[in-house]
Amino acid sequence: MDYSNDILTKDEQAIMRLRTLYRQYGYTQYRTSRFEEYSLYAENKAFLASGDIITFTGANGKLMALRPDVTLSIVKSSKDDSNNQTKLYYNENVYRSDGGEFKEKMQVGLECMGRIDVHSTGEVLMLAKRSLESLGQRSCLDISHMGFINGVFLNAQLSPDRKKRLLRCISEKNTSEINKLCSEYGQSDEFRKRIIALAEIYGPIDDAIPKLRGISVSEETGAALRELESIRDVLWQLDALQDVNLDFSIVNDISYYSGVIFHGYIEGIPKAVLTGGRYDMLMQKFGKRSGAIGFAVYLDLLERQSPSQVAPETINIALPKGRLGEKAYSVFESSGYGCPAIHEKSRRLVFEATDKGVRYFWVKPSDVAIYVERGAADIGVVGKDILLESSPDVYELLDLGIGKCRMCVAAEKGFQPGRHDHLLKVATTFPNIARDHYERQGRDIDIIKLNGSIELAPLLDLSDVIVDIVETGKTLLENNMEPIEDIVDISARLVANKVSFKFNRAAIAGLCEAIATRIEK
Ligand code: PRP
Repeated sequence: MDYSNDILTKDEQAIMRLRTLYRQYGYTQYRTSRFEEYSLYAENKAFLASGDIITFTGANGKLMALRPDVTLSIVKSSKDDSNNQTKLYYNENVYRSDGGEFKEKMQVGLECMGRIDVHSTGEVLMLAKRSLESLGQRSCLDISHMGFINGVFLNAQLSPDRKKRLLRCISEKNTSEINKLCSEYGQSDEFRKRIIALAEIYGPIDDAIPKLRGISVSEETGAALRELESIRDVLWQLDALQDVNLDFSIVNDISYYSGVIFHGYIEGIPKAVLTGGRYDMLMQKFGKRSGAIGFAVYLDLLERQSPSQVAPETINIALPKGRLGEKAYSVFESSGYGCPAIHEKSRRLVFEATDKGVRYFWVKPSDVAIYVERGAADIGVVGKDILLESSPDVYELLDLGIGKCRMCVAAEKGFQPGRHDHLLKVATTFPNIARDHYERQGRDIDIIKLNGSIELAPLLDLSDVIVDIVETGKTLLENNMEPIEDIVDISARLVANKVSFKFNRAAIAGLCEAIATRIEK
C-alpha cells in the first residue's frame, strides 16, 4: 500500500507502514491505558530508558503514573504460556523526560512472548531491520549478546561496581580506560585483551563471528556464540543479513536482559531509533516462565533527521575554545589534518579543509560533549572531567594525553576531617563526580554547586572542602589550601558520536589511527 500522499504526515505514514508490516507476520494490536500504578515502574526502574516519571494521585489515593514505557504493561498483563506464542504490536504515546523536559513521544513496537527459539528471534530481528528500511535511506541493525558479555566476565571475580565500570568502558569503546582499570583491578593480561577485543568488535556478522570465537572462554560464551551463528543463518534465509553488524558496545542492564540485544540506526539521526532485546529475566520478575523478545521504534527521532550540509565523508570536529583546544588542534595538524585558515586572526568559529575532509568548530569546552552526542559534530575533544560529570552517550576513542590534571578534594591547610558536627559541605562545579566519590566511601554529603572560583568557598566558610581540578597546584597554594584526596586523573579525550562512527567509520577510524600513531611517538 502506498502511504506517501499529502494527507498523512511523515509520522503517520511511518506508523501505517510499520503496522502493515507487523500484521503481515501475525502480530495483533495491543492497546493500553495511558496510566499505570507508579509501583510498576518504581520496581523496574533499571528497565526504563529514562528514570523520570510523571506521577499523580488517583481517585483511590494510589500513586499513578503516565506510562513511560509500553513493554512493562504488556508483560504485566500477558499470559504465561511457554508452549505457544503471543505476537503483539502497539502504537502508543509514552511520556519521558528529555534534557530535563517531559515530552509525549509516539512509539511503535512489537513483543513476541512464549516459546522463543532461534527462528522467532531471527524473525523479530528481520522485522526490526525491515522497520528501519521503511523509515530511512541508509540504516543498520547492530546486535550484541548479554550472554556472551556475561560469559567473558564469569571468572574475573570483580565486584558489581567494578564490573559496572568495565561494562561502561565497553559501551564507550574506551580501550585506554579498560587498560587502566584492568591493571588497577589486578586482572590478567588475557582478560584485559579479551575485554578490549570485545569493545573493538564492529562489523558484519560474518566478519565478526571468527573474532568472537577467538575470545570465547566459557560454556556461556560458547552457547551465545552458537546462538549468534544460528541467528545469522536464519537472517540469511530471510534475506535480511545485509547491514546487520555485531557490536558489543550495546550493553543493557544485566538483571533484565540475558540474550540478544540490538539497536537500529538511520543515517542522519544522532541516536538509535530502534532498541530491543530478549528480556526473559523481566518475565521472571513477573513470575512468568515464558521467553520474550521485542523492540520499540522512536518515531519522534525521525524529526531530527537532518540532511548533511557537507560532503558525507567530511568529519565535523568540535574543539574546546581556549588553550586546550589549541593544543588539541596541534595534535590534529601534526597528524595530517591541518586547516591553515584556522591560524588567521578572526572571530570565525567554523573552518573547513575540504582537501583533508575535516571541518573544525570552536565551542565552549563544557558544550563539546553535547555537540557530539547530538550529532552536530562527529567527533570532539573534551576533558575527562566533563565526561565523568555529564556521562554523555558517546564513544571515548582516545586519550590524547594533553590537558593533564587531577580531580581532587582540597581544603584549607590544617583542616581536620571528621571534626565537624554537620554533613560535610562540599563546594564544586562537579556535583556528580563529588557525589560518586563520597558514595563509594559510604558518606552522605551536602553539595554546594558553584560555577567557578571554587577555592573561595572554604575561605568564606561556605563549605568545608572543595572538589575541583588541580593542575599546577598554584591556585590552592596561593589561597592557603592543599589537596587532601586524589579522586581521578584527568586528560583530554577524543570522543565520537555513536551513529557517525557507524556511517562514517572509514574516515573516523583513519583519523583516530593517525592521531594514535602521533600520540605514541
Ligand atoms: C581551574 C580550577 C582551579 C585552577 C587549578 O580553574 O577550577 O581553580 O584551574 O589550576 P592550578 O592548579 O594550575 O592552579 P579555571 O582557571 O578553569 O577557572 P575557574 O576558577 O573559573 O573554574
